[in-house]
Amino acid sequence: MCGIIGATGSEPVLPVLLEGLARLEYRGYDSAGVALLADDGVWRRRRAGGNKSVAELTEAVGDAPPATTGIGHSRWATHGAPTEPNAHPHTDATGRLALAHNGIIENYRELARTLPQGGDEVTSDTDTEVLAHLVAARMHHGLGLADAVRAALAEVQGKFALAVVHADEPGLIVGARRGSPLIAGQADGTGLLASDIPAIHGRADQFFVIDNDRVVEVRPGSVRITDLSGREVELVGREVGWDLEAAEKGGYPDFMLKEIHEQPAAVRDTLLGRIVAGRLVLDQMRLSDDDVRQVDKVFVVATGSSYHAGMVGRLSIEHFAQLPTELEIASEFRYRDPVLDSSSLVVAISQSGETLDTMEAVAHTKAMSKARVLAVTIVVDSSLGRDADATLYTRAGPEVAVASTKCHVAQLVAMHVLALYLAQVRGKYYPEEVAHQLACLQRLPDRVQAAIDTAPAVTEVARRVEGARDFFFIGRGVGNAMALEGALKLKEISYLRAEGYPAGELKHGPIALIEPGVVVVAIATRSRLRDKLLANMQEVKARGAVVVALVDDEDADDAHVRALSDHVLSVPDAGHELFQPVVDVVPLQLFAYALAIARGNDVDRPRNLAKTVTVE
Ligand code: F6R
Repeated sequence: MCGIIGATGSEPVLPVLLEGLARLEYRGYDSAGVALLADDGVWRRRRAGGNKSVAELTEAVGDAPPATTGIGHSRWATHGAPTEPNAHPHTDATGRLALAHNGIIENYRELARTLPQGGDEVTSDTDTEVLAHLVAARMHHGLGLADAVRAALAEVQGKFALAVVHADEPGLIVGARRGSPLIAGQADGTGLLASDIPAIHGRADQFFVIDNDRVVEVRPGSVRITDLSGREVELVGREVGWDLEAAEKGGYPDFMLKEIHEQPAAVRDTLLGRIVAGRLVLDQMRLSDDDVRQVDKVFVVATGSSYHAGMVGRLSIEHFAQLPTELEIASEFRYRDPVLDSSSLVVAISQSGETLDTMEAVAHTKAMSKARVLAVTIVVDSSLGRDADATLYTRAGPEVAVASTKCHVAQLVAMHVLALYLAQVRGKYYPEEVAHQLACLQRLPDRVQAAIDTAPAVTEVARRVEGARDFFFIGRGVGNAMALEGALKLKEISYLRAEGYPAGELKHGPIALIEPGVVVVAIATRSRLRDKLLANMQEVKARGAVVVALVDDEDADDAHVRALSDHVLSVPDAGHELFQPVVDVVPLQLFAYALAIARGNDVDRPRNLAKTVTVE
């Protein structure tokens, strides 16, 4: 994954690079570095400080020259440990060229053998450094920087977004892209290059999305894009549409809590303007009614929390649209032989729209069939949004904390919108039934808010189970998806062992792990399967588990529930059991949050993780 930032102008660019790196930390933060073009070559500083790398780097650049061109990088290690020698930018043997990379160079060992010293010039363990030497070798044969990058890339296999500078060509940053995101921007005579919009937001007036196999030359007053053979490509500029305020903490101690509190708005905005007189109107989706009617099978692909939204979406599509629906983890789907044809609809869910596994699942779909691909994503102009035939945008605003909260809730809502839309267009549901369900969806923001208001009760339960080391989350139906999501949130930010399990499956093995002191969080909000779930709670309670029950408000004082539980949390009814996850997930997020804070963890930047996973 990793984040790239570059700037070239007439003023010192170091502040721009450091600000960009701080904003890009969600892409990876195990090390960070900057390289500036100074009079005598490249001035470089790198730090490997875990989730404090950018802060440590900022402390360490007091002696930097007032350079007007430079690049920076925040790293999420793939090849080579997260150490300073492996941190980017990397330089060539002369110290006049610096290069930062996001992605994986698959044939780096073969490329190293073609270098002038047979690879001895490579000093780090990374797959990246070889590229710095490769480009330098092409320049040594008389090419300019941009031509040398183009020539080197002809030999590269893998995925990359690059930023390269050379002291012989001050005032130029060369970028290139294949598979990993990259944008260029211009503002008042400063040229910018970055992995993502937040890095240059508030600085660039306009940005340009770099497509695959393109090389971009960024200068103080110009942006030029070419293909790998050097042929110029037309520039299409776009306005930056996000409010920078939205990317700041707004009085909360961290982004995660802020984003949890933004969930009512995320639900409301995802529905905004899409429900007109009790009907869904999804004009921007680019899928005609005939396309929708032609669909006879749906495949949902995603990873992580997006996959959990897919689990709920699958049940919703089966129920409302009555379409056979398969669900698959994206990194598995791409190596399967799914039976796809032109009547299949592949729904790829990804908040970032840049997750490589999900992108590859889409590429696999396209390579093997004429199936239509619908992206459910938040990022307009993301790679996924552009590769898909149709897009349903979630509208949660930028999510900065690594653990997904408001984007996940927006995905849940978007999947219900999709299911009801398929039902509406295919005539599988009476119009008044669709209108009724849409009205339920529209009431969800208030119910999500009520769930957020349970934070003091959730924090108190978390305090009571603070000493536990093993957690199970169990549920049935859509509750199973929330069990997985609750466990994932807890693992991610508290580093506690947590397993999500379908409650009925527990007795087929995992129940062997239940012993006194193990905490079992049971998603027992009302559904057809609630009584069966209460029976499963009984099974774990009998074996000494500490049971935390999540129930509907109406059941909070139910004697049977109380007898089976050590702690009871309650949330409002969502109006339909399939919609219940939108509300249920909130106390699960708050529970993970409270335990992580109690353990002194950085909830916004948990260890080993990155916000956008652009490697396989
Ligand atoms: C969990 C989390 C990850 C992401 C996953 C997919 O809190 O954030 O599991 O959900 O990496 O990311 P996107 O949705 O960007 O494809």
